[in-house]
Amino acid sequence: MDLVIEMKNINKIYKMGNSEYKALSDVNLNIKKGEFVSIVGPSGAGKSTLMNIIGCLDVATSGRYILDGEDTDCSDNKLSEIRNRKIGFIFQNYNLLPKMNVLENVELPLIYQGLSNKEMKEKALKSLERVGLTSHIKHKPSELSGGQKQRVAIARALATGPELLLADEPTGALDSKTGKEVIEMLKELNREGNTIVLITHDREIAQQAKRIITVKDGYIESDELNLEYSKVI
Ligand SMILES: Nc1ncnc2c1ncn2[C@@H]1O[C@H](COP(=O)(O)OP(=O)(O)O)[C@@H](O)[C@H]1O
Ligand SMILES: [Mg+2]
Repeated sequence: MDLVIEMKNINKIYKMGNSEYKALSDVNLNIKKGEFVSIVGPSGAGKSTLMNIIGCLDVATSGRYILDGEDTDCSDNKLSEIRNRKIGFIFQNYNLLPKMNVLENVELPLIYQGLSNKEMKEKALKSLERVGLTSHIKHKPSELSGGQKQRVAIARALATGPELLLADEPTGALDSKTGKEVIEMLKELNREGNTIVLITHDREIAQQAKRIITVKDGYIESDELNLEYSKVI
């Protein structure tokens, strides 16, 4: 089976006191291994809600979500375990721990994997090599540029060898040149076989992916292949 994401009739209802708000309506979404998909839509469309469910950070109110063959309708502990094993996160604000150096930040997701210190360091270094940052392993995040911080975050996301890279507005805090470099790196990682879901409000960024899904008012408005993809890489 080569589906990484399989969503069937996903609904998400937020309850606030006596009122309810339906943030996702009957979302059906299949994403195969090796795809590079962007999810785009205006503010309030439901992108963060969808990303939280895809990333196992939140659960749907109803519907079925199978991640890489595993049903996410399970206990909180099991869901955290699935999240840690299967997903690498890349956030707009990097989410690096300021007191830890670059190497320690990248080792962080490996801590839960029961590896020896030596194995952990080897994996983290390999990942840092992948993003071209082995010369900065002792630096603290505050000593890095925005682009370098995002590369550390990408290395951290790659460290566990996840099934899915989930990037939430990864260029949102970067200038346009650095943002382009980050997108180029995602394209390269996709060419190497990584499955990538990129969430953005920026249509220009979204158009860098092979497949573009537009969300609006909590539903999928369109889902199209990017015929320009091979031309833009
Ligand atoms: N925790 C919450 N409680 C109530 N409403 C929420 C909550 N989170 C999001 N919403 C609402 O759901 C809708 C979709 O939000 P969100 O998924 O954050 O959209 P986007 O990321 O596309 O801007 C918005 O109308 C928002 O106000
Ligand atoms: Mg959002």
